[in-house]
Amino acid sequence: MATETAFVALLREQIRHEFTAHQQYIAIAAWFDQQDLPRLAAHFYAQSVEERNHAMMMVRYLMDRDWHFQIPGVDEVRNDFEEPVDLIRLALAQEKTVTGQIETLFRAARAAGDVLSEQFMLWFLREQVEEVSTMNTLLAIADRAGEDWFQIEDHLAREAVGDTGGDASAPTAAGGAL
Ligand SMILES: [Fe+2]
Ligand SMILES: [Fe+2]
Repeated sequence: MATETAFVALLREQIRHEFTAHQQYIAIAAWFDQQDLPRLAAHFYAQSVEERNHAMMMVRYLMDRDWHFQIPGVDEVRNDFEEPVDLIRLALAQEKTVTGQIETLFRAARAAGDVLSEQFMLWFLREQVEEVSTMNTLLAIADRAGEDWFQIEDHLAREAVGDTGGDASAPTAAGGAL
């Protein structure tokens, strides 16, 4: 077993954060689904799968490096919302928090002189730029829409907001990405 560093402990914790983000996005998607806002629901169902894949990429990497880990439970998620803008604000805040965590991971890898892990975290840094930007766009649209929630639906129908598609540079997920 390779020597463990602060980076490894942080990465292990990050699995929980990614699974919590997955669960939070399911809660958000289900809320939109119940409000008959199918495009918003679809957007967040898809986001939830991405978070799950992030967690499984980290699981794969820990296995590849022969570092011990366990599959964690998740933190509590929020389900009480009044209007779409509440959920999108929460999603944006979550993405900003994760960006901070990923930056900390990158710095920890660098501090440990662990170049492989630095390289591994680079993809996640780029991914966070995209996810924060996507959520910022969605929030601007929701703010503009005000009470008229269907304007957000129309926008999502017209334009692929944060449409990622296949990404050949993505790290491998344990069991394969969904
Ligand atoms: Fe993520
Ligand atoms: Fe994310």
